Amino acid sequence: MKRLFISFLMAIVLLPYGAKADEGMWLPMLIEKYNFADMQSKGFRLTAEDVYSINQPSIKDAIVIFGRGCTGEVISPEGLIITNHHCGYGVIQRHSSVEHDYLTNGFWAMSRSEELPNPGLTVRFLVRMDDVTTQVLEGVSPDMTEVERQAKVNENTKRISDEVVEGTHYTARVAPMYNGNQYFVYIYEEFLDVRLVGAPPSSIGKFGGDTDNWMWPRHTGDFSLFRIYADKDNKPAEYSPDNVPYTPKRHLPISIKGIEPGDFTMVYGYPGSTQQYITSHEVNQVTNISNPLKISLRDARLDIMKGYMQSNDTVRIQYASKQASVANAWKKWIGERNGLIRLDAVAKKQAIEADFESWVNQSPERKAEYGHLLPRFEELYSKREPLLVATDYSREAFFAVEAIRFASQFNRLISSTLKDVEPNADLAQSMVENTRRFFKDYYLPIDREIFAEMMEAFTQNLHDSLHPAKLSELFIQSNSSWSTAANNFFSSSIFADSTKLIALLSNFDVEAAKNLKKDIAFEIYWQHDSLFNASINQQQRSISQELDLLYRAYIKGLMEMMPERRFYPDANFTLRVAYGHVGGYNPSDAVEYIHQTTLDGIAEKSEMGVYDYVVPQRLLDLHAAKDFGRWEVNGTVPVAFLASNHTSGGNSGSPVVNAYGHLIGVNFDRVWEGTMSDIMFDPDMCRNISVDIRYALFIIDKFAGAGHLIEEMTIVD
Ligand code: ARG
Ligand code: GLU
Repeated sequence: MKRLFISFLMAIVLLPYGAKADEGMWLPMLIEKYNFADMQSKGFRLTAEDVYSINQPSIKDAIVIFGRGCTGEVISPEGLIITNHHCGYGVIQRHSSVEHDYLTNGFWAMSRSEELPNPGLTVRFLVRMDDVTTQVLEGVSPDMTEVERQAKVNENTKRISDEVVEGTHYTARVAPMYNGNQYFVYIYEEFLDVRLVGAPPSSIGKFGGDTDNWMWPRHTGDFSLFRIYADKDNKPAEYSPDNVPYTPKRHLPISIKGIEPGDFTMVYGYPGSTQQYITSHEVNQVTNISNPLKISLRDARLDIMKGYMQSNDTVRIQYASKQASVANAWKKWIGERNGLIRLDAVAKKQAIEADFESWVNQSPERKAEYGHLLPRFEELYSKREPLLVATDYSREAFFAVEAIRFASQFNRLISSTLKDVEPNADLAQSMVENTRRFFKDYYLPIDREIFAEMMEAFTQNLHDSLHPAKLSELFIQSNSSWSTAANNFFSSSIFADSTKLIALLSNFDVEAAKNLKKDIAFEIYWQHDSLFNASINQQQRSISQELDLLYRAYIKGLMEMMPERRFYPDANFTLRVAYGHVGGYNPSDAVEYIHQTTLDGIAEKSEMGVYDYVVPQRLLDLHAAKDFGRWEVNGTVPVAFLASNHTSGGNSGSPVVNAYGHLIGVNFDRVWEGTMSDIMFDPDMCRNISVDIRYALFIIDKFAGAGHLIEEMTIVD
């Protein structure tokens, strides 16, 4: 009886670690074993083999890594893929010019010959994954130091990755799971010719901008279309006009039957990184030290940008994308911190640690294996705290200055030229290109003001020993005024003067390299780098190595302590299955959000006079005329919906499928109240946001007149 009671108590206290309703990012290969029964009980109608199989085409064969950090899915037998607009943004921007402003106006290829190639953009299919723990740990012994162990693991990993793809055109990556308690190899087939097929105007694809980012209710048509091309044998090939549309093993049928709260949903894609098993010490540092610090530094930076952007249209366009990316993480950190506080996450973690401690103390064997963990975590995290602060000031204040980041890009050119005592002409030429690109979207008054504020914050909050000498000198010479220092910095650095810099690069020689090296921006960057490498970075590295070791043991211990629980490994940009259901939530007292938005909401927002809510006239006309075609539902068109899938950054563009594996939406965001799910999931608040596939189809068909694309899809109605 007593035992039962204890384990019941544990089950409650330990909720954050047990995968309960809808929490978890699962390994596709293992869902048969761990999740299938649960998925079925929640309404899933396919088999585990339909999700992942190496014997027959399965849903995994329709999923790709899109570019470097997104997911996409195949939606036609002719290699058509859909992902987010914000994932295709860079590519769409690169094709845009004043004459063809695809970002503003959208782009639609009306025939295959109009589809636009994108050098450098690739997609990767997962061919298979395998557990290679035994092979990776071959030759590893318990008495090795962490450095020795890692060397052995790296050696084995390299051998395995080479072996598994020998004689094929595939590539392989070995990924650790549960902090190195298990290892899996992932084999990919990468396609190199991926063409832009369609993108709505930003006023649809980015509708709501930063105002609505991370929020519900949401009305963003965040999708874009691409097509994979292959050689005539359907194999990957570099771009060639002779390439043909790729014939996939599998494409996703699209359901336009509609969704209801409670309907089963599965998100299948590539979440980038989560930290579900960190201790209370780290959660405390995230909540009370790192996030507040980063948020306040970005507050100041965003204010400066906003001020100039509001009063100058050119600057507004130049800084749109930079501001969006600074604001994206800033807003997420705010939501994450609030969520962790609301969940009382530190206390929940402490409760788990208390249980762990008493479990450890139950036997001498456990004490020997795990007894050192918690006290050592405590020590290491307190040692790490000042280092974390220094790193945050370095990243978020020092490197907030664009001219310094820009100067740092010249490191290679300068060092290689001085080392070889010969100018590196090719590199100098490519830096001319970089320089042009940099100055196209650069506004010096913004950077000058950021310099003044950020360098002040940096020097006031970090110990003198971390101040670059050149920076201190500048400050003193500027009568100890940061705003004078900023003026002096920008009037003396060549990295703030495109004409001079390009002239120098065009006749680049050893003398020029010496001059760049002496430039104030480069020198300050260089001194910062040396100071940080010698102290902060090195100490950080040795602490994180030891933390790796501790976490490996800690997670192993937690798994032994709770053998009945299913643990999912932290996200590491490997393919994962998250399943849940369609549904709204209650963000705060007396407020209830329903699961679906519609075109009516876009028309409403367009009346509000907010910059981010400008809607294309054509869309308003379609709405006013109720010209919705076959996409009409209850006199409007569905736009976005909420579900309870556990997702993270990298899941952008991931398919959301129903119980039958039919595509119902494309994932693109999470709600603000739930962004702490990277650290602690809360089934009441954590929701992922997806474009309703019917909105994408409506835009393609009625707004863009690109109905020929819909004909190649498989629509289930
Ligand atoms: N919050 C989403 C994600 O993390 C969307 C970001 C793009 N949209 C934006 N307004 N910045 O990446
Ligand atoms: N927008 C995110 C991305 O680009 C996905 C949203 C999230 O972080 O959940 O990957």
